[in-house]
Amino acid sequence: MIYAIRAYGDPILRKKAKEIDPLYPDLNKLIENMFETMYDSDGVGLAAPQIGIGIRLFVVDASPFVDDKENTPEENKNLKKFVKVFINPVLVEEKGNLWKFEEGCLSIPKIKGDIERHEELTISYFDENWNKKTETFNGIPARIIQHEYDHLEGKLFIDLLSSLKKKLIQAKLKHIAIGNIDTNYKMKFFKIK
Ligand code: CO
Repeated sequence: MIYAIRAYGDPILRKKAKEIDPLYPDLNKLIENMFETMYDSDGVGLAAPQIGIGIRLFVVDASPFVDDKENTPEENKNLKKFVKVFINPVLVEEKGNLWKFEEGCLSIPKIKGDIERHEELTISYFDENWNKKTETFNGIPARIIQHEYDHLEGKLFIDLLSSLKKKLIQAKLKHIAIGNIDTNYKMKFFKIK
C-alpha cells in the first residue's frame, strides 16, 4: 500500500516522534508499506512522520547512488547493502569533517539545497527483527541517516540552509503548504482537505 506523503506545513513534521515497542501492531506490514511508498516516490529514505505516523522508525535504500562516477568500489559495495530499517534509533556520535551535499526531501518537493553535516556517525537502533545494533556509517549512508533521523526530531533539512537561502525559498514553501505543487507521487496537504 502506498501512503500519501505529508507535505511541508503539516504539524506532524515538526513533532518529536515517539519510541515504539515490539508489540506495536502490524509493524512488518507498516515497514513493507513504507518501502513501497519510498520506491514509488523515488526516495532514498522515508521516516514514519512523513506518512502521518509519529513513531521513531525510518527506512532507507541508497541504491540510486550506486555507480555514481566518483564512487570507489568500496563505496559502491556499502551503498548496495544500505537497505535498512531503523527502529528507535539513538544517535551516539557524529564526527569527521563537515561536508556539503545537496539534499532534498519528499515532503518538500522541488526544493534542494547544499547542507553541511559531519561525514561519519555512530547510531544504535533496532532492526526489523528487533535485534539491537550499534553501527558506524560514513559518506552518503551517514548523510541519509542524518536527514531521516532529523525527521524523528521534528527537524527538516531546510532548517539548516543559510538565512539568505531560507528567504529565497519562503514563497515556494508557502505554495507547497497549500498544495499548490505538482508531484508524480501522492501527497497530503494539511491546509486543504
Ligand atoms: Co526528508
